[in-house]
Amino acid sequence: MNYKKNSLFIENISIQKIAKKFGTPSYCYSLNKLKLNIRNFKKYFRSINPLLCFSVKSNSNFQILKEINKMGMGADVVSKGELIMALKAGISPKKIVFSGVGKTFDELKFAIDKNILLINSESESEINQIEKISKIKNKKIDIGIRLNPNIDSKTLKKISTGKKEDKFGLTEINFLKAINKFKNSKNLNIRCLSVHIGSQITDHKPYAKMLKVVRSVIKKSNHNFDFVDLGGGMGIKYNKETKKLDYKKYNSIIKNFLNKYRTKIIFEPGRSIIGDTALLLTRVLYIKKTSKINFVILDAAMNDLMRPALYGSRHEIMASIKSKKMIRKKHEFVGPICETTDKFLSVPKFQTLREKDTLAICDVGAYGMVLSSNYNLRTKPSEILINQSSSKIITKRQKLNNII
Ligand code: LLP
Repeated sequence: MNYKKNSLFIENISIQKIAKKFGTPSYCYSLNKLKLNIRNFKKYFRSINPLLCFSVKSNSNFQILKEINKMGMGADVVSKGELIMALKAGISPKKIVFSGVGKTFDELKFAIDKNILLINSESESEINQIEKISKIKNKKIDIGIRLNPNIDSKTLKKISTGKKEDKFGLTEINFLKAINKFKNSKNLNIRCLSVHIGSQITDHKPYAKMLKVVRSVIKKSNHNFDFVDLGGGMGIKYNKETKKLDYKKYNSIIKNFLNKYRTKIIFEPGRSIIGDTALLLTRVLYIKKTSKINFVILDAAMNDLMRPALYGSRHEIMASIKSKKMIRKKHEFVGPICETTDKFLSVPKFQTLREKDTLAICDVGAYGMVLSSNYNLRTKPSEILINQSSSKIITKRQKLNNII
């Protein structure tokens, strides 16, 4: 995504052209950026040869998943819906892990029937349930157990998952109890220890702590795990202030761990694969000026992109046509929804803008469209995939007829 002669392009098409052709608001993805991200991710961890399972919760678009499958990734799913979508996109069940705090009987049965790689479980009761179903089906099922390592991942409070007050995983004591209880089960094969301490992590140190705890718990368990699933969480650079995760250091921490304990590493990255591949194209409906603030009212709202309202997260906004003329006054980019939190960004200055101008909200590929809703009975946006000079619709804009 670059300005060419002051016009913002995604690959070889200007966003103005895309907005004109497909309307706004629209999520617009760069296929080649997606491919580059996957290639880079593989490169960072080449020396440990991990299994990469794309976290479908971050983006479950069918065409995107098909591309991800073509690039050789598996999937990390958290519901029957995501599992069906991943399978439909062609991802082999042998590359699918099913995570989640609470899976229903029906979801577990379905996953067991599909012979997926692992069901990662986070409670003794759920493991009991898996055992029960496996018994009925006369099968031996491969499972993982998620450890809560009680580590602060130093990310936003609302997306931290590895502290003991978080609902995720089993505490060390309960993890070890579960291993003892189920290790001789005729219908379960505990093949994996899984862990995931949070999302948008930009510091490698919490990962180092996490692996230290993993190592110590494995020792105490006296059990052999074929897989250690380290989850995802690698952060991306949303703006100048965000630190970049040092992949080299993270890789060497894992290499150290593997020197002492031979196992296959699984990753479940979402954001780091898809986050910076997309823009949300939107149009300025109105500009409302007060003495201190210019409210730029957009046709996109929190129902299209929930992250700023939900987590206070910051997505930069770019104009489709760059202007050098700056208005040194506070600008608030807001949606039309009747909620004070329906606000995308507040900046002390912005270039000159006019009503009907096209803007791009940046880095919305992960947890963007998947979190969209019909709040205020607004239709969900369309999704467009760009490949060099070609563009295609990968999700049609919802029609009011479908929701009324
Ligand atoms: N594995 C597990 C078990 C997870 O819970 C998650 C994310 C991932 C993998 C993928 O994490 P990633 O690589 O994308 O950080 N909606 C929030 C993020 C919630 C993340 C939930 N779990 C956001 O928009 O920031």
